[in-house]
Amino acid sequence: MNTDLRLSLQDITREFPGVKALDAVSLDLYRGEVLALCGENGAGKSTLMNVLSGNLQPDKGHILLNGRQINITHPQQAFEHGIAIVYQHLSLIESLSIAENIYANQQPCNKAGFIDFKKLISNTAGLLKRLRIDLDPKVPVGRLSAAQKQMVEIAKALVKEPQIMILDEPTASLTERETAILFDIIAGLKAKGVSVIYISHRLDEIFSIADRVAVLKDGKMQGAFTRSELSRNQLIKLMVGREIRQIERQSFISKDVLLETVHLTGKGFTDIGFKLHGGEILGFAGLAGAGRTELARAIFGADEKKGVVRLKGTEVNISHPLGAIKHGIAYVPEDRKQLGLFLDMSVTDNIGCLLSCANNAWTFNRDEATKTAKKFIEKLHIVPANEKRKVLNLSGGNQQKVVLSKWLNTNPEIFIVDEPTHGIDVGAKFEIYSILASLAQEGKGVMIISSDIPELLGVCDRIIVLREGVIAGELLAGDASEEKILALAT
Ligand SMILES: Nc1ncnc2c1ncn2[C@@H]1O[C@H](COP(=O)(O)OP(=O)(O)OP(=O)(O)O)[C@@H](O)[C@H]1O
Ligand SMILES: [Mg+2]
Repeated sequence: MNTDLRLSLQDITREFPGVKALDAVSLDLYRGEVLALCGENGAGKSTLMNVLSGNLQPDKGHILLNGRQINITHPQQAFEHGIAIVYQHLSLIESLSIAENIYANQQPCNKAGFIDFKKLISNTAGLLKRLRIDLDPKVPVGRLSAAQKQMVEIAKALVKEPQIMILDEPTASLTERETAILFDIIAGLKAKGVSVIYISHRLDEIFSIADRVAVLKDGKMQGAFTRSELSRNQLIKLMVGREIRQIERQSFISKDVLLETVHLTGKGFTDIGFKLHGGEILGFAGLAGAGRTELARAIFGADEKKGVVRLKGTEVNISHPLGAIKHGIAYVPEDRKQLGLFLDMSVTDNIGCLLSCANNAWTFNRDEATKTAKKFIEKLHIVPANEKRKVLNLSGGNQQKVVLSKWLNTNPEIFIVDEPTHGIDVGAKFEIYSILASLAQEGKGVMIISSDIPELLGVCDRIIVLREGVIAGELLAGDASEEKILALAT
């Protein structure tokens, strides 16, 4: 047993209007350990980490670092105490370069006190190399993919060689390759005695890297367990408070072709031809940069393309998302914070906002919207169950459920989802899978892009693998395996 106690959180309590996000939470962290912090969406994980990183003040409780009580009233203070955090939602500034983002507020200066740009670039290049990120330090962050941004965010946290590193859902937008790099980095940090707090909804990851697992439920600490003493089912039960019912895969594929693309070419993909049938759940696998998101965006009319798109056999020319919505296509984007939500608006307004476009209506019926929001809150277990709450104040996973609700509410014929379970807890994942299955049962077509291969294997009828913008192969659910998909993808 590791006895070298580094950090002790004692009786931390934090309330928000109407929610006790943290209820007298105590947690110890030892030197050189990886502690996984688990819990359902809204359990309080990010809130606890925000207390530790100086973004939020606790109402009650103490923090002891190396046996001494400390106050962390500002993120800069956490930083000075050697606490670094990789936020669940990226905190990068899109218009600034990678180097400027990584060294924000701590740029290397020359003797005269001016920023030493040469050093800024060379330091960044060194750091990126160490992290095996093949990017130019001068590139603006806005031009990077979600996975690349996430790696830059990680690099930023590592700049000052932290003693405590917090990672809040770091792999949500990473692919297998980057995840492997991240795990190497974590192993290296651990070997140097750095303590890591690792938040993830991916149980495989937790069981592969954590030394101990702490579980929060409804703001209360359920305990911290040595990983070897905890089974997967025990962990799920601690988080969810019930057993998860697995969905039985059934196939509802019909002969009708809902969507067909012929020689579709656009930025990031070339000559893509495939058919999506009614009742089919079609998966798209591939590494970051394989062109999956670009393909989906083009079909949805968000980006330019050449080639033919047919809906139920009729050629259509969709050059704008509004056109796609009117044709019964919904696209749930990968980057929900930028593309999916009005953060400052309520759950009701977010869920209802597309309905008028879909129905060609000119008005927004508030009573109707409230009723619908309540229906989705119940169906997807959005917490807190308050349709008036601003989306900004929901936990990450609950925000994702709002995005899904908004698009489901347009009653689409073709439902395209891009990484739909990012940041979603185990219980809600199965709710989402069963929603996709029931869409298929109703004869709709579902396209799902996911980096989580077991997820694709679990829900799809067929999986198309893209590599560098072209179709590398196609597998039927019964024949597909993780190895086969990876072999095609790389
Ligand atoms: N700024 C805020 N204002 C009001 N309520 C908040 C605020 N931040 C968080 N909450 C609420 O506190 C609770 C805990 O949220 P938190 O973000 O810590 O959950 P989480 O465990 O990180 O969930 P997820 O897995 O979805 O990221 C939730 O009920 C959330 O709605
Ligand atoms: Mg969170």
